[in-house]
Formats: sequence, structure tokens, C-alpha cells
Amino acid sequence: MTVACEYRPGLEGVPATQSSISFVDGTHGILEYRGIGIEELAKKSNFLETAYLLIWGELPTKDELYEFEHEIRYHRRLKYRIRDMMKCFPESGHPMDALQACAAALGLFYSRRALDDPAYIRAAVVRLLAKIPTMVAAFQLMRKGNDPIQPRDDLDYSANFLYMLTEREPDPLAAKIFDTGLILHAEHTINASTFSAMVTASTLTDPYAVIASAVGTLAGPLHGGASEEVILMLEEIGSVENVRPFVESALENRSKIMGFGHRVYKVKDPRAIILQQLAEQLFEKFGRDDYYDIAVELEKVVQEKLGHKGIYPNVDFYSGLVYRKLGIPSDLFTPVFAISRVAGWLAHWKEQLNENRIFRPTQIYTGFRGATYVPIEQRRSVGDKELLATLVGDLKP
Ligand code: ACO
Repeated sequence: MTVACEYRPGLEGVPATQSSISFVDGTHGILEYRGIGIEELAKKSNFLETAYLLIWGELPTKDELYEFEHEIRYHRRLKYRIRDMMKCFPESGHPMDALQACAAALGLFYSRRALDDPAYIRAAVVRLLAKIPTMVAAFQLMRKGNDPIQPRDDLDYSANFLYMLTEREPDPLAAKIFDTGLILHAEHTINASTFSAMVTASTLTDPYAVIASAVGTLAGPLHGGASEEVILMLEEIGSVENVRPFVESALENRSKIMGFGHRVYKVKDPRAIILQQLAEQLFEKFGRDDYYDIAVELEKVVQEKLGHKGIYPNVDFYSGLVYRKLGIPSDLFTPVFAISRVAGWLAHWKEQLNENRIFRPTQIYTGFRGATYVPIEQRRSVGDKELLATLVGDLKP
């Protein structure tokens, strides 16, 4: 096969699909969902309304939203067999791995695959949006040795999640800020996890496999896992005075500073701007976080050193500080990201099904051609020989 275009590592700038779900302008720091600016949604919408907008393409009417919220409210519970399965997970396991396993397991329980049936699509959307927060909260309680808490039907989506997680009804401002955080993380064009969801969707497998593959991809430290790493990094820096030497040493060692840089944004991520404001609102009501001053100084020094390369805070930089103030443990930051991004993944799943063609890119082959098969007794591997020699001493031929 002839290669139609140049190879771009990481597919940078290569369009993988046509989509009407979200729009990003990385030079001017613009993000829109279905044409509506993220700032406006953060101010005026709530997460489920935004999820509806992303998945069905339009803001719901009052009745449509009521029905959607109502359906989600009554599908929040987990089957006891899923809870039993979770009891067998090791407490030391990462919550993202637990979530990926649980999302995939839903396919065992709801296995009918009818991708051309709108009722099936709707049920899958409702089930995934409803149950993923319950899974995250249940794993958190179970790993502490407690029974999971049942969802409360009288609480809204975000308040209910915080209640299931912390065993306390949350302060309304905390629930509102958490909900706004979900809006901000819900969708972001063809990032790694969304692409992963689309590739999986293109095989016409079930939606639970689609979401499970996306969860696995989001977990990586170069993607959603960065928010957890940011808090670890702030912890390691420890004080405002240590910021500059930390950055200088990172740059000298060519290591990445977590929470900075983005393939698309060459200015400060618009979501980071809003998350920083949310963090400040939380600090005003519930007291300041020591790490905040370190974070602000870090942003200043990184901008000074790397601003010319377009390296600015991304969405993961301030989200951890918001979640920390809400009492969420740092290894749940990425699962919380997943709770929100399920909306975007589902929107892309649905869009992919509308005009599906299986993803099957090509490659540029760099290996041997026409090599001969060498019998095993005649093979020599310099690397293996050296390794073995260190393990067992002199090698006999
Ligand atoms: N710290 C220091 N230098 C950086 C950083 C960073 N965080 N990010 C990019 N750079 C530098 C690179 O070293 C490189 O420099 P060079 O051209 O002199 O070699 C240049 O900027 C380009 O960086 P790439 O890694 O090639 O950019 P890419 O688009 O492939 O990667 C990514 C983007 C993965 C987000 C990168 O910026 C990164 O690793 N950041 C840290 C991890 C992170 O915060 N990830 C979350 C991203 S948001 C999300 O996924 C939800």
C-alpha cells in the first residue's frame, strides 16, 4: 500500500474524524460544547444538562431535562453481584483500574447489543452516567473496609456522589463547585481517551467496552492521571521557596512538570482559569490550602521559563486543588475526571455510530523483509548473551 501522507508522531494535527460535539481554539484559549462557550456553561448549566447537550446535540427542554435526570436518579444503584465483584478487588489497587473493570463488567449484565435501537442507546447512556459515580464511591468505601452507601434519590447528581463518597450530605457550595468541575471536564475533542473510545466504538462492540477502553486510556499520567501527579509534585516541592530550584532542576533533567503543557492549547487552558476561580471560592468559604501559594508560584516560574514554548497550566493543574478541598483523595481525581468525561465519550460513541467506518490506519514499516528462519541452535543474541552472563556466569556455547 502506498503511504498517502507524511508520518506525524502522536498523529499531531491529523484529523481523525469530523465532529460537531466540541470546538477548541488552542491559540485563543476557546472551548465550546455544541457551540456554547465553556465559561457560559460553567456559570449557567449543570452537569447533567451539559451531558444531554453533548450527547443529543441540543439543550434539553424543561421536561426533557426532568425526564433525563429522573431516569439517571433511578439507575444509580449497582447490582449486588457487581458490588460482590468489587469486594474481591485488592484494597491497594488503583481506583482507575477498579473503575475500568466495573465499567467492562456492566457488559456482562446488560449484554443485549442493539446499536440501531434508540431505546438501547438511551438506556446505555443513562446506565453509564448513573452508575459510574456509584462505582467510584463504592470502591472508595470498600477499600477502607466499609460497606458502600446506597445512593440517595432526594439528592442531585453531584451532591449524591459527594454524599456516597464522604458519608455526609455536602455543603451546597461544595456540591455546586464539584458539579461545575464536571462540566469543565466533560468533553474535549479528540484527546487520547476519546480517540480510544472512538476506535473501540468503530468495531460496533458494546458501549461498556467503549467506556472501559476510554477509562484505561484516561488513567495514564500524560492524560487524566496528571491531576494526581500535580498534588504529589506540590507535596514534593513543599514550599514557595523551593519552587524555582524545583523547576530549574526539572528542566535540567528534561523531566515534565505535571499539569503544564497541552497538545492543542498554547495559552492557559480556559478550564484551568475557571478551576482556579473555583478553588479560590472554596478557599474563601472553607479556608486556604497551603499548596495554593506553591501552585501560583509554580505557574509564574513555569511561565517565565517555558511560556515562549506555549507551556501553560492545563485542566489538571488546578483541578486537584479543588478536589482536595472537597475532601477527595488524590487517587480519586482521575476517576472523578472519568465520571465527567463519560458524557463526552458517549457523545462520540453516538456520533461514531451515525456514520461508522472501522478505524484501520496504516503504518510505515521499518523492519526487515525476506529474512531467513534461523534454526534455534544457530541463533545468537548479543544482548541476551550479556544478560545471561551476568546472571549465570560464563556461558557455554
Ligand atoms: N514540562 C516541561 N516541558 C514541557 C512540558 C511540561 N509539562 N510539556 C511540554 N514540554 C516541552 C517538551 O519538553 C518539548 O520541548 P522540546 O520541544 O524542547 O523538546 C515541548 O514542550 C513539546 O512537548 P511535547 O511533549 O512534544 O508535547 P506533546 O503535545 O506531545 O505533549 C503533553 C503534550 C503530553 C500534555 C505534555 O505537555 C506533558 O507531558 N505535560 C505534562 C503532563 C500533563 O500535565 N498532562 C495532562 C494534559 S491535559 C489532559 O490530558 C487532560
